[in-house]
Amino acid sequence: MKKRFYVTTPIYYVNDVPHIGHAYTTIAADILARYNRLLGNEVFFLTGTDEHGQKVEKAAQEKGKTPKEHADLMVGNFKKLWLKLNISEHGFIRTTDTEHIKTVQGLLQMLWDRGEIEKRSYAGWYCTPDERFWTEKDLIDGRCPDCGRPVEQIHEENYFFLMSKYQERLIKYIEENSSYILPETRRNEVLGFLKNNTLGDLCISRPKQRLLWGIPLPFDENFVTYVWFDALVNYFSATRYLVPHPEDAKLGDFWWPASHHLIGKDILTTHAVYWSTMLMALNLPLPKNIFAHGWWTVNGKKMSKSLGNVIDPHGMVDKYGVDAFRYFLFREVPFGLDGDFSEQALINRINTDLANDLGNLLSRTLTMIEKYRSGEIPSETNKVSVCETGPVKVNPQHYFVGGLNGFLGKSYKNSLSSLNFYAALFEIWETINSANKYIEGSAPWKEKDEAVLSHILYNLAESLRIIAIYIYPFMPSTANEIWRQLGIGTGLEETVKLNPQETFDFGGVELGGRKIQKAGHLFPRIETKEAKKK
Ligand code: ME8
Repeated sequence: MKKRFYVTTPIYYVNDVPHIGHAYTTIAADILARYNRLLGNEVFFLTGTDEHGQKVEKAAQEKGKTPKEHADLMVGNFKKLWLKLNISEHGFIRTTDTEHIKTVQGLLQMLWDRGEIEKRSYAGWYCTPDERFWTEKDLIDGRCPDCGRPVEQIHEENYFFLMSKYQERLIKYIEENSSYILPETRRNEVLGFLKNNTLGDLCISRPKQRLLWGIPLPFDENFVTYVWFDALVNYFSATRYLVPHPEDAKLGDFWWPASHHLIGKDILTTHAVYWSTMLMALNLPLPKNIFAHGWWTVNGKKMSKSLGNVIDPHGMVDKYGVDAFRYFLFREVPFGLDGDFSEQALINRINTDLANDLGNLLSRTLTMIEKYRSGEIPSETNKVSVCETGPVKVNPQHYFVGGLNGFLGKSYKNSLSSLNFYAALFEIWETINSANKYIEGSAPWKEKDEAVLSHILYNLAESLRIIAIYIYPFMPSTANEIWRQLGIGTGLEETVKLNPQETFDFGGVELGGRKIQKAGHLFPRIETKEAKKK
């Protein structure tokens, strides 16, 4: 039976347009989805938008629109960006979808019937932008401990999910499941918080006189649902109606639990504590993993409209291309750590890693095949071992023999299954650099023995074929372009997933006799003053 892989991004607020932070998490999920499809797994990749709550209501008011009109307009910005970034999602959930609303109400009713929700009168400090209550002792200098903005005192009746009773069970669960929350630092942070504080109950309603824009509580029409309760349920409700094959939706928990919830570190508590305890109360399995990645800043500062430093992903893609942008985000900073965005660093990566290393490997290989073999890839003769050809020190076969079980394959697989994108790219580039060294070492232009020359050219073409598979999750168009130029065609994913083990293997696809389709350079160098100086 095929392995199921279900990956999610946060659902983004429609109060503003998407920026590189949103692009980052969504590309990360896309990398995992594409990689799992290559392996032949069944994949469900979900993203979407969070459309209820005070923030959205306020943003709509400012524009003179109803919240739904505003959301309908804003949702297009996300969908457009995902198309541009080559995101291969299956489901796009909107929390205003009728099916989602029904699921939220169904789950609320279930919790209410089971006595997991209670009505209480409450006084507390409320942070409107974060839509969260705080106690007096949580406040820092009288302000919200999360965002530092002013809070207001509120007295009202509300409904509470009895979260506190799950505190010990949650601690135990996190301790027993070492990869439930990653990276490790974030796991320790959550455990530290849970062990050193008394968990309160969670206010999951807002009175309608204060907020209208939300899902009505099924058991009290004077209240709407707290936006985070509504939003977190999306991961579950989508499995009931947005899955890749509609018939799976009828199979109950076919797609639940998720394999990974990818989120930024800003929303770790809501996922690790609220969502986990909500699932416990509902008797549903917990996701396999919650991964909280780091934060992108610009020149060391938080991106904000008022500072005018928000990086627009559309602009970056228009200027540098989608694959260069995708590559940069995951090669520059290890996933999990914070990173500082700089356009110059992006240009440097394009000029060195993409133009010099990868682009040159392809163009040198194809130029030699054109020159010495009239554009036809020679067959593997197996008669010559390249290690026996004198000055050759590095043989790319070494990296690939045995495909996914080979040297590169094993560490790449481990890196991607632990979401260490940085290490995966590092290893691929080690291989690309070795293949470039192999060209220097074997000096095909001096080779007199035709069989040896054929062997070298075959090794290079075959290495590029496999390198393309490895870079595919990160740079899908580039990978397809390499396959096209090698004369294999462009359906890389479709071909590989039919037979992953063999296609990842050195020699797994017959290359001999294929006519190359040499084209322009994959990544033309970007000439800036700084690059020229270098
Ligand atoms: O929090 N660096 O939505 P949101 C890295 N609707 N990632 C960033 C980032 C940055 N500077 N800025 C944003 C919400 N992100 C809720 C989520 S989920 C049930 C509900 C990414 O629009 C990162 O993934 O504020 C972060 O967690 C998310 O966008 C927050 O998006």
